[in-house]
Amino acid sequence: MEMIGRTVLITGGTSGIGLELAKQLAARGNTVIVTGRSPERLQAAREAIPGLHAFRSDVSDLASIESLYKTISDRFPLLDTLVNNAGTMRNIKLGQQYSLNDLTTEIDGNVKGPIWMVQAFLPLLVRRKGSLIVNVSSGLAFIPFPAAPIYSASKAALHAYTQCLRAQLEGSCVSIVELAPPGTETPLFRGEFAEEMKGERGMDVSVLVKRTIAGIDAGKTEIRPGASNVLKIASRVAPHFMFRQLVKLGRPRSSAGT
Ligand SMILES: NC(=O)c1ccc[n+]([C@@H]2O[C@H](COP(=O)([O-])OP(=O)(O)OC[C@H]3O[C@@H](n4cnc5c(N)ncnc54)[C@H](OP(=O)(O)O)[C@@H]3O)[C@@H](O)[C@H]2O)c1
Repeated sequence: MEMIGRTVLITGGTSGIGLELAKQLAARGNTVIVTGRSPERLQAAREAIPGLHAFRSDVSDLASIESLYKTISDRFPLLDTLVNNAGTMRNIKLGQQYSLNDLTTEIDGNVKGPIWMVQAFLPLLVRRKGSLIVNVSSGLAFIPFPAAPIYSASKAALHAYTQCLRAQLEGSCVSIVELAPPGTETPLFRGEFAEEMKGERGMDVSVLVKRTIAGIDAGKTEIRPGASNVLKIASRVAPHFMFRQLVKLGRPRSSAGT
């Protein structure tokens, strides 16, 4: 499945992994469309990538997805690739008080979002031979990170959903790939986790994206670069040990060694 000559829609393509994917896919001659919520980031992406198409759209909002579908099906009827990349990661302390809606925003964006996008865009994708959906989960889908409890749950859910989607669409013209990135140097990786990630180094985003494209080109269905593969293997052979490592990683530095 070569990532060349495609029409690709990337949700959350204005920062980090999505933006780098847009750059590398545009450089390979694909038609690339990105979405995001911030108009400033959308404009910056247009300026950074010549020929990029960028639309404001929120994956956690049904009306926004419906309007995006109308735009894309009118203007890009040859769409053959959907990358469900948009996501947020929050540092949530479950012992503290949150409004219930606020507590579950990661479920809206990271789980409902990709599920809604797939359902909305399937009618377009099934028209094209060799169509592709890439769902971006996380290594934390395999072993949860207690400092990001709702995020970890959201990515485990996306992983399970992606397996089911692949099984149900087997034999159709739509292939399903899961990208489970390891910690990668993007705004999300540092964002609310500056303290926890002090001294940690994520994968370089351009390396991650090169490996991703190579994995898709090679026909892989689950792409797990670097530490994500370690987490997947550990989830089978040493789940308790690896979970304890992630518990320690989430503790304030002063008590991490205790
Ligand atoms: N970086 C890592 O260490 C890492 C590891 C594993 C998995 N991942 C996953 O990789 C994906 C990309 O993460 P990243 O590290 O590149 O993060 P990032 O740099 O923060 O970029 C996230 C992108 O998603 C957009 N976005 C967020 N919520 C959205 C929504 N509701 N609707 C539409 N767009 C939305 C953001 O733009 P706006 O805010 O303007 O909407 C931005 O363009 C995420 O799914 C993340 O969970 C990242």
